[in-house]
Amino acid sequence: MDVLDQLKDKYLGGVDAAADEAALEEIRLAALGKKGEISLKMRELGKMSPEEKQTFGKALNELKTQIDTALRVKKQALADAALELRLKDEWLDVTLPGRPRRSGTIHPVSQVTEEVIAIFADMGFSVGEGPQVEDDWHNFDALNIAPEHPARQEHDTFFMHRDASDDRPPHVLRTHTSPVQIRAMLEHGAPIRVIAPGRVYRMDMDMTHAPMFHQVEAMAIGKDISMANLKWVLEEFCKAFFEVDDVELRFRASHFPFTEPSAEVDIRCSWEGKQLKVGEGDSWMEILGSGMMHPKVLEAGGIDPKEWQGFAFGIGIDRLAMLKYGIPDLRAFFDSDLRWLKHYGFQPQDMPTIAGGLSR
Ligand code: PHE
Repeated sequence: MDVLDQLKDKYLGGVDAAADEAALEEIRLAALGKKGEISLKMRELGKMSPEEKQTFGKALNELKTQIDTALRVKKQALADAALELRLKDEWLDVTLPGRPRRSGTIHPVSQVTEEVIAIFADMGFSVGEGPQVEDDWHNFDALNIAPEHPARQEHDTFFMHRDASDDRPPHVLRTHTSPVQIRAMLEHGAPIRVIAPGRVYRMDMDMTHAPMFHQVEAMAIGKDISMANLKWVLEEFCKAFFEVDDVELRFRASHFPFTEPSAEVDIRCSWEGKQLKVGEGDSWMEILGSGMMHPKVLEAGGIDPKEWQGFAFGIGIDRLAMLKYGIPDLRAFFDSDLRWLKHYGFQPQDMPTIAGGLSR
């Protein structure tokens, strides 16, 4: 075996056996690098006779090309194999069904709150807010509720704990959303149209009462706002909310310290077969308190009652939800029972809009 055959076996065999790019590079250097065996042989050509040069030189050149080609081919093969492996490894079957995820639902109270906001927004009301832990001035005094008024007594109101040495004003869990009337007047003045949905607290518990529940307050102040406007707004609201041409409302003369005159409003409903239905039957469910704002309340809000007048009302949001969606027991609203939530809850995509219909 002559020397070129030996070199050929050695390097082509090496290329064949090389397992990675690093091994290939080693072989390239050993054969074709500056001090590689083939390169050194090339240099020896100078010392040869012209005939020798002819035959040996040609063979050597061919060998060099062969090794070079083998190196390139193997390098490509290694790269292809690596890619193949990666593709296999990272392969995804995009046709597989997705893993189902359990999604939560929107609570009926949240849904109804959004519905109510949409309806009043359409009538030009903006949305106001106030704290749930309220001071007794906003919750009572400013609303003309005298200190001896029964609503203030311990059996109705949750009072915040106070140390004997605490000289801050007493705070309560707000018993209604009416304190937001005061906050909105002080912040924005008149004229104003605002609603304020939120949580309120009272010590009360039965089928239609819970110690924490939801109200939406509404207030409209202008130069000549009257009881007629109040009645129209309430009727429009009920028709839009219950998505019917007519609802039957009953205005009962009533008393609130912060309105004069005052009316409580009931809606006709039936409880037949434990199913609560609105617009039929012989029962009435009280859904709101309302009236013309008391001059003292306007004054507390920094508004001159000789110049301005307004109406206000507070609706029970949970009651609206019970009536619209036929939910008989209020207490279940706050039990966090997943079966109940799944049954009465809403899909997040069901955003209520006036144009798109308010319910699912
Ligand atoms: N704040 C009253 C309640 O909680 C409702 C109400 C609001 C009545 C506004 C009149 C005017 O019962």
